[in-house]
This record gives sequence, structure tokens and C-alpha cells, in this order.
Amino acid sequence: MTARIIDGKAFAAKVRAQVALQVATLTQEHGITPGLAVVLVGEDPASQVYVRNKGKQTKECGMASFEHKLDADTSEEALLSLIARLNADPAVHGILVQLPLPGHLNEDLVINAIAPEKDVDGFHISNVGLLATGQKAMVPCTPLGCLMMLREELGSLAGLNAVVVGRSNIVGKPMAQLLLRDSCTVTIAHSRTRDIEAVCREADILVAAVGRPQMVTGDWVKPGATVIDVGINRIEKDGGGTRLVGDVDFASAAEVAGAITPVPGGVGPMTIACLLANTLTACCRVNT
Ligand code: GUN
Repeated sequence: MTARIIDGKAFAAKVRAQVALQVATLTQEHGITPGLAVVLVGEDPASQVYVRNKGKQTKECGMASFEHKLDADTSEEALLSLIARLNADPAVHGILVQLPLPGHLNEDLVINAIAPEKDVDGFHISNVGLLATGQKAMVPCTPLGCLMMLREELGSLAGLNAVVVGRSNIVGKPMAQLLLRDSCTVTIAHSRTRDIEAVCREADILVAAVGRPQMVTGDWVKPGATVIDVGINRIEKDGGGTRLVGDVDFASAAEVAGAITPVPGGVGPMTIACLLANTLTACCRVNT
């Protein structure tokens, strides 16, 4: 293996420590405690794990955590009324509605009901527009975490060829916007891209966010490229049981890449660290 391993777990711990320090100052010197409300509708097992981790880490860095667990058959009206209450609550600086929502709920409607200044996910249409036009926005946590690791690894990203595989609103599109803002030459590749391997081989920065286990193999990677693996997929192990893998085939990609994020321990921990950082930012914006 030749690639350097980008340690997202260690980097996230540093970010959380910085957030905790600022939270302590806010609380002790100004009597303000940043608060994050997380709303979970239904009992999706993966979402339950994420929500539990978010709550735990929110408290660990000294912020207030408000968890709202609603039944899977909660009506849109009831969910919107909870969001309206959280929007009006001065103790709540950030609101996150865990996705995906059960099928009977309109995700766009729900997300756009969150006050944009409390939208720590950066999914509200106002924040999407602000980011796309280069204005100050709440930036989605996963792409923000990826960008922080890329800057740490590479310094300036200006002029580099970046290929983002995946075009989701949560990761692919905002990732592309952030890389463009850092003056990369950006391509978004997806399921209909012709000769996707060749497109990826042009990338100095390759971000995989497709949700397909181990799709990106070493022969898709330009020698020396920096590879960021956003995927978290659970697959069957040969000897029984399951294990987590990314969208990148780590073993073959690490033979070719200059640096690569592992799964687990890469992008995942950075996502929650950025959520905490966004909550702190939201709190500071209303209190300064
Ligand atoms: N589900 C998967 N990723 C995310 C995320 O970043 N935010 C929310 N709200 N839901 C998600």
C-alpha cells in the first residue's frame, strides 16, 4: 500500500475540542449555551444510531441536546407544528430533521419549514442558493467535513481537477459547489456518465458519494490522487456476519492513490464534528 491514510477520526476529535472550547467560553462568559434539536420520525435502525451519536457528542462538547422522537405515522401537520415551535424557541440554535423521512411526509416541505438560520444541515433552499451564489451559507456537514480534510491534506485546492461521483442534494451537489468555491475544476459524474472510469482517472481529487459498495476500484484512480470515500455500506462478510465498506474498494485504491480516507474512521466522524461546528456558528450569528 502506498497511500497515506487520512485519519478522519483524529481530525474530528480536534474539531470537536475546538468547538467545546468555544462553547465553554460562550457559556461561562456570556451565559449562552448553544442548543441543537434533532428530530427523528420512525424507527429506521441506521437513523437511530446516527441520532444517538449526534445527541451524545452534542452533550460531550457542552451544548444542549433536544431529541424529539416521533412515531412513524406522525402527520405532516404535527411535524410542521413541532418545527414551528423549535423555530421560535430561543434555546434552540440548530434544528436537524433526520432523513430519510417516512414516505407519506414531503421532505422538501419539511426541510424548507426550518428557519434558514437554524438549518444546521444546510439543506434549506435558501442555504442551497446562498452556497451556489458564493454567499455566506450554512454548509451541509458531510461535504464540509470532506473539504476540511482536503484542505488539510493538500493546502490550496486551486486549479486541481476534482471529480465528484454522485449527484445527491445532501453530498454530491454541495460538494461540487464547495470545490468550485475553492477554485477546482469540477466534474460531477453519475450513473449515466459515459466511461466513468476514464473521467475519474483525470481526478486529482476524487470524491465517491454514490452509496454503491466498493464501486470505485484502483484502476479508476489517477496515481497520487487524493480519494475521499463518503460511502457507508454494510455488506456480508465471507465468513458470515457483516462489515462496513465505503463506495471505494479501499485495498486496490490505496495502491494507487496519494492519500485516502478509510471507512470507518474517515468522513463519518467529520460529519458530526461539522454539525457541532455549524450549531456553534448558528448560535454565534444570533448572539452577535
Ligand atoms: N441522513 C443521512 N445523512 C444525513 C444528514 O447529513 N442530515 C440529515 N438530516 N439526515 C441525514
